[in-house]
Amino acid sequence: MKIMQVTVQVGRVETASVEVLVLAHCEGEALAKQDAALLDQALGGSLSKLVQSKEFEGKANEVLLYHTQDKAPAKRLVLVGLGRKNQVTLETIRQALGSAVKRVRQAKVGSFAVALPTVRPEGASSLDVAQAMVEGAILGSYQFTVYRSEAASGQDIGGMTILIPKKGQLRQVAEGIRRGVATAEATVFVRDLCNHPSNVLTPVRVASEAKTLARAEGIAITILEQKEMERLGMGALLGVARGSQEPPKFIILEYNGTKKKDERPVVLVGKTITFDTGGISLKPAENMEHMKADMTGGAEVLASIRAAARLKLPLRLISILPVAENMPGGRAMKPGDIVTTLSGKTVEVQNTDAEGRLILADGLAYAMRYKPAALIDIATLTGACVVALGQFAIGMFGTDHALKEQVRKSGQKAGERVWEMPLWEEYFEQLKSDVADMRNIGGRGGGMITAALFLSKFVGDCPWVHLDIASTDWSERERAYVPKGPTAIGTRLLVQYLIDRSL
Ligand code: BES
Ligand code: ZN
Ligand code: ZN
Repeated sequence: MKIMQVTVQVGRVETASVEVLVLAHCEGEALAKQDAALLDQALGGSLSKLVQSKEFEGKANEVLLYHTQDKAPAKRLVLVGLGRKNQVTLETIRQALGSAVKRVRQAKVGSFAVALPTVRPEGASSLDVAQAMVEGAILGSYQFTVYRSEAASGQDIGGMTILIPKKGQLRQVAEGIRRGVATAEATVFVRDLCNHPSNVLTPVRVASEAKTLARAEGIAITILEQKEMERLGMGALLGVARGSQEPPKFIILEYNGTKKKDERPVVLVGKTITFDTGGISLKPAENMEHMKADMTGGAEVLASIRAAARLKLPLRLISILPVAENMPGGRAMKPGDIVTTLSGKTVEVQNTDAEGRLILADGLAYAMRYKPAALIDIATLTGACVVALGQFAIGMFGTDHALKEQVRKSGQKAGERVWEMPLWEEYFEQLKSDVADMRNIGGRGGGMITAALFLSKFVGDCPWVHLDIASTDWSERERAYVPKGPTAIGTRLLVQYLIDRSL
């Protein structure tokens, strides 16, 4: 998908000469208060009438297309609701733009303008509002049509202009656009990778995507091959990869945006299983196709480092992707097999479907070499996460209060919220093995927790947060700016965290 061009312009709604003008409107408010009074006058008061007659009430995500019949310079209006004024958040605005942009696309126009809403969510600046608008618009128009022979249902929208009433907001809004484009672009990149099937997006292909990206952005990259992993002793990652014909990869990307010599880096580690059959502990057939997206975490850390580079964030950032395909081939790991991880700890693999924590164990142990200031891993780790949290919260665990708070805040701002779960040592009882240092499953109860606790054994005393995105990874239905299928949720949280941390 081509990302739309976004610009900002000083101008008023009643004089904007555009194909489509999007106007956001709060429920129960007069149009005059919302900067559209002169436009309404030009249209003979018909906008007010639409509101009075409740044909358009301004409820969240309500959309109405209106032809101005040459009574105003804008040919068509798309009214979109924001709901009650005192309840408007950045997320409401993001969703409103997502809803509006779909209507714009149906109207088959190549570009549109949108007025910066006059309402300001509590604590938000015009930068934040512009950023949310851009994210909603780009992500709401997302389509994945690579494998369709027929033309897509609607053309891509080429451009969006944000209209602002006063020059004074220009700089803030421009910066909001810059950030919004970067986070949305990152999300689109992740959605695309997740949508590609596993016969295309193999570990080899992930490595080549990473190489292309690194070269384009001037990011340093190292890719470890199987031989190197054997030499280092990455027994857990190698164990998972054994059942597949596809060789594993271990990808390290390093972006340095700071001049400070010995600044400790932020390190991101993402689970990158290009397909999870479960291995010998084979998964049931139903919905198994969703497991092509078991590489979401890896795609997200890849997209995040690209966004950091594009935004020229002043920080040191390292992204690590342990990559493998989990298959039940003739040489596959079998239940009861014992692997020695990079950390030296041994693991009894009682269930080959709990492969994410194995590859992450080696990923996290490797990350420790960089003495991270903050270590964050992100993974479609457990079905238990889906059971516990449904589709709207990311599971968060961590060892460091300050880091957890930062991640929570950035997630809130990005509209990708986390919910903390306990990382209590008591649960480790469930991970004890009779023959090795630990086992890779925790038995009945607390499946999301025992998985996180397993990971915690590989991070030493580093400030660490683990995000389980199995809950939010795949959407069963289309929402305002989230498509059906892979959502890439977690991407904006990570990019926002990097922005908030470095600026
Ligand atoms: N990739 C799955 C987790 C998953 C499930 C992600 C559903 C997205 C949606 C993971 O590798 C897995 O299979 N976990 C097992 C662990 C169990 C064997 C302890 C699970 O959750 O069933
Ligand atoms: Zn699995
Ligand atoms: Zn998995």
